[in-house]
Amino acid sequence: MGLRDDVARVLIPEDELQARVADLGQAINETYTDEDCPLLVCVLKGAFVFLADLTRHLKVRHEVDFMEISSYGAGTKSTGVVRILLDLEQSIEGRHVLIVEDIVDSGRTLAYMRRNLQTRGPASLRVCALLSKPSRREVDVTLDWVGFEVPNEFVVGYGLDYAEEYRNLSFIGVLKKEVYAQGD
Ligand code: PRP
Repeated sequence: MGLRDDVARVLIPEDELQARVADLGQAINETYTDEDCPLLVCVLKGAFVFLADLTRHLKVRHEVDFMEISSYGAGTKSTGVVRILLDLEQSIEGRHVLIVEDIVDSGRTLAYMRRNLQTRGPASLRVCALLSKPSRREVDVTLDWVGFEVPNEFVVGYGLDYAEEYRNLSFIGVLKKEVYAQGD
């Protein structure tokens, strides 16, 4: 019973996810110094689970802040027009900024964020994305760290939702077609 029954198959099991997140944390530890004190910018809502695990693998001094971005348009397809629903609490001028994303699909959200944050004068701007769907890319965006490349399937779990549910699954799964077909 429950959300697990709506998943056709597990794409990335919990242990693989956790091992990869630890690797990403290690790579970030090796990139920054305590003096850099990077600011991790979590892109809500999807990245909150990834950020929570990633931050606990960091030994380097750092801070976290949050942004919420939304794309206009109904349905599952993004129109490419994005707006800020929640902005950072603090200034990033002269700061080392690391954007933490759950998934990069068309690349439009990230392209917008990069452009927007760059105008605020950060000392550096990098991106760590847990998942990337290269087959869906419409805009070329640079990703400094990627956890996994995934096929063009409807993935949920570990922060990723369908209609705001499934974010709490501890693995990445492919949603059964009949679940989202009835919502379109
Ligand atoms: C998802 C994801 C990225 C964006 C990627 O967010 O978290 O921010 O879409 O898509 P793109 O590369 O095509 O722009 P979503 O709009 O689903 O919001 P959520 O994180 O609150 O679920």
